[in-house]
Amino acid sequence: MLSRAFLTAAVLSLTPCFGSATINIGSYLSSAILVRDVAVIGGGSSGTYAAVQLKRAGYSTAVVEKASRLGGHVDTYRDPVTGQTFDYGVLALLNTSVVRDYFALFSEALTVYTGAGPAVTRVYANLATDGEIVTPPSTIPWTDPAAVFASFLGYGAQISQYPFLSDGYSLPNPVPEDLLLPFGDFLAKHDLQALAGTAFSIVQGVGNLLATTTLYVFKYLPKTTIDAFVGIAPPPVTSATFNIQALYNKALAYLGSGTNVLLNANVIAIERDGPRVLVAVLTPSGPKLIIAKKLLVAIQPKLSALQGLGLDLTLQERDIFGQFNNSYYWDMVLKNTGLPSDRRFTNIDVDAPLGIAPMPGLYGLGPGPIANLTLAYYSSPSSRTDAQVKAETLEAIFKLKTANGFPPGTGTPEFVGFNDHRPFWLTVPPAAIAGGFYDKLNGLQGKKNTWWTGATFVAHDSSAIWNWTEVSLLPRVKASL
Ligand SMILES: Cc1cc2nc3c(=O)[nH]c(=O)nc-3n(C[C@H](O)[C@H](O)[C@H](O)COP(=O)(O)OP(=O)(O)OC[C@H]3O[C@@H](n4cnc5c(N)ncnc54)[C@H](O)[C@@H]3O)c2cc1C
Ligand SMILES: *[C@@H]1O[C@H](CO)[C@@H](O)[C@H](O)[C@H]1NC(C)=O
Ligand SMILES: *[C@@H]1O[C@H](CO)[C@@H](O)[C@H](O)[C@H]1NC(C)=O
Ligand SMILES: *[C@@H]1O[C@H](CO)[C@@H](O)[C@H](O)[C@H]1NC(C)=O
Ligand SMILES: *[C@@H]1O[C@H](CO)[C@@H](O)[C@H](O)[C@H]1NC(C)=O
Repeated sequence: MLSRAFLTAAVLSLTPCFGSATINIGSYLSSAILVRDVAVIGGGSSGTYAAVQLKRAGYSTAVVEKASRLGGHVDTYRDPVTGQTFDYGVLALLNTSVVRDYFALFSEALTVYTGAGPAVTRVYANLATDGEIVTPPSTIPWTDPAAVFASFLGYGAQISQYPFLSDGYSLPNPVPEDLLLPFGDFLAKHDLQALAGTAFSIVQGVGNLLATTTLYVFKYLPKTTIDAFVGIAPPPVTSATFNIQALYNKALAYLGSGTNVLLNANVIAIERDGPRVLVAVLTPSGPKLIIAKKLLVAIQPKLSALQGLGLDLTLQERDIFGQFNNSYYWDMVLKNTGLPSDRRFTNIDVDAPLGIAPMPGLYGLGPGPIANLTLAYYSSPSSRTDAQVKAETLEAIFKLKTANGFPPGTGTPEFVGFNDHRPFWLTVPPAAIAGGFYDKLNGLQGKKNTWWTGATFVAHDSSAIWNWTEVSLLPRVKASL
């Protein structure tokens, strides 16, 4: 409980002598004030997990989410007629105790993950030029299955040298130089070019794979994933009802929608100068003020996004978060594409290094789990509009059909699911990594009553985010309360 003396202190702390204070507690109805242990900004993978575990441990939280649902990068398609669902955003999880316990908590079953759609023949076409199905030339190293298998083992041996990668971004000093190489150079250095095809199909959303700093690829393609390919680790899992959104909907109900989770909410100011953190929020049911002991930021911390929260950033925070760049990632579901349902089309550029299609562009197009629906994924290293992405996708479908003589089909292609996941992966240049960027980032933990979690602190990998939040972060947060 919050004492009257504390409230008075908080109000006093908002007098002008404390700087740019703009939140006036007195202007809020008492019914609009939420007093909590932790205010969580962002109800995606990391924020929801943290709030659930804090509640289980007896702490009070308020989660502020700008969308109309929890789940972040989860995208669950629901067929309007049959109600059948499938995931086309976050879908593959590691079969670890943290994942199993989380699903069990909400009585959601898991099943072995077998891919984003049915297992059909993979064919290759240049989706940026003519769309004609081609046989990848044998000069491309990943066309040789034996070389691909050998590359899994070789990559596994390389990544095993860096066990610290499973604990967020706790990097040694100096940072091992291989981690700083562009991934294409790393593959060449260790004669692992045959891995490029597999990496292209998994490490999506980063922009150009071969130019991506190896550290980030290692984060995305951890040893456990490779071990599953070679059969020495259990396969990944996914929701048995193909509905990861259901997990988040149950988390929402568990936490308490409206009381402990504010959906469709806009944070307009956050002040951390007083004894408590003040978070001013606009919600569909009016303004709210969260008064919390601690702040947990669980959104992608681009400087612009933090400024958008009205967060009272320190100079150090400005400097650190201002260094982030980000890639772009879209996922889509289309109907009426007229594409054959027995093939998955992977984008290829046989003239590009290792045949890897340059981005911006599509990774590929393939049948979804429900008949007559097509899934598509697109990435870019720089900003693109939704209209550009849609136009290029429709053009690729048209070219595939004309170049390969597929029947034109009836109806016109239509987007029934389309999500822009910007800002996707937040990265800094290799020189910044070598210069201790991540130590400085990690050094912010706990400062100014603020804790940080999410993909930027762990990896774009929900299993890893939940594990790290559970094992590394929450014990520290709890100790600070
Ligand atoms: C298409 C796609 C497929 C993926 N597939 C997988 C997969 O198969 N397996 C896997 O493990 N990972 C996958 N990922 C990676 C995924 O990014 C992570 O698993 C995880 O979602 C990252 O969690 P996060 O909490 O950092 O961010 P998010 O889940 O994005 O959560 C951030 C939340 O903050 C909210 N937010 C943002 N700004 C504000 C604001 N100003 N105020 C309030 N709320 C705000 C957002 O709406 C969002 O809900 C995929 C990602 C994408 C885009
Ligand atoms: C996950 O791993 C556990 C323990 O090894 C196993 O019992 C379970 O069957 C696995 N789950 C799935 C869906 O494969
Ligand atoms: C979980 O996190 C801990 C500490 O960060 C790490 O040592 C461990 O390997 C992680 N486990 C998994 C399955 O990622
Ligand atoms: C992000 O990348 C773009 C394109 O490479 C570059 O122009 C820009 O300066 C980068 N921004 C930061 C903050 O690094
Ligand atoms: C899929 O499309 C084909 C061809 O247009 C049609 O015959 C079939 O009924 C459709 N199936 C479903 C489930 O919509």
